[in-house]
Amino acid sequence: MPNDLRYLSQSLEETEKFRLIYYDRVDSTNNRAVEYARRGYPHLTVVIANSQFKGRGRRGREWFSPEGKNIYMSLIYRELEDVTYPELFTLYSSVCVIEALQGIVPEARGHLWSKWPNDIYWDEKKLGGILIEGSLSAEDINFLVIGIGINVNSSNEELLACSEGRGTSLLAESGRIYRRDEIILAILSEISSAKRILKDRETLIRKWKDLSRTVGERVKVVTNRGSYEAVALGVDERGHLIVKRKGDGKKEVLTYEEVVHIR
Ligand code: BTN
Repeated sequence: MPNDLRYLSQSLEETEKFRLIYYDRVDSTNNRAVEYARRGYPHLTVVIANSQFKGRGRRGREWFSPEGKNIYMSLIYRELEDVTYPELFTLYSSVCVIEALQGIVPEARGHLWSKWPNDIYWDEKKLGGILIEGSLSAEDINFLVIGIGINVNSSNEELLACSEGRGTSLLAESGRIYRRDEIILAILSEISSAKRILKDRETLIRKWKDLSRTVGERVKVVTNRGSYEAVALGVDERGHLIVKRKGDGKKEVLTYEEVVHIR
């Protein structure tokens, strides 16, 4: 294992909660985690890779996953019986990631925010993303896979080449190199306390709103059939985004669409 992931196995073992599956190179940690979940691997199994060659983002996009620099992790989450709306995991996971990062990078406070539903931004640039898979809409939900990608130690040059300046990393923003194991452990510790907060929807939604800049903003909503301009009014009890269309003022409830902030 690379030096900056060295403490993972021992620390996760000590918690007696997590089961770690590590790959040096893998297609996508989400693909592997979904497969392990179907094969019956337990709650809080976590798949981590040093690089991905088919890293996936939301809406079929590719996720930039160079070797040895960033975090690519997918967590199997099974204890869903008391969760009324599993969609809330999208908001919850971004709150957990932001809180964990703020603990490690103090100057990130005030810069990190969540774009609905769970993109992680550092001011105007994207720092990370979350891809949740599983049987969200099925009646019988067995598991969710929470896939998290965070740009940690990618250099400015690398980011420029892969995202034309739209992406950033902790290194690019703070000028420091980070140990990935420390960040992964902090995120896992936040997420694994999910049950308590997922039952308390009001607190969760309030926390997400405090960390988000989407509500109240003008946005472009991108659907499979085209796009339209709107104002984001708020989120409902499931974490879906409520927007008011420009022009006819019609309200829409967004579940999977993409929103782009209009500046
Ligand atoms: C997005 O913002 O579009 C979501 C990106 C999610 C990327 C992570 S990296 C670990 C996991 N494996 C994947 O293939 N995707 C997620």
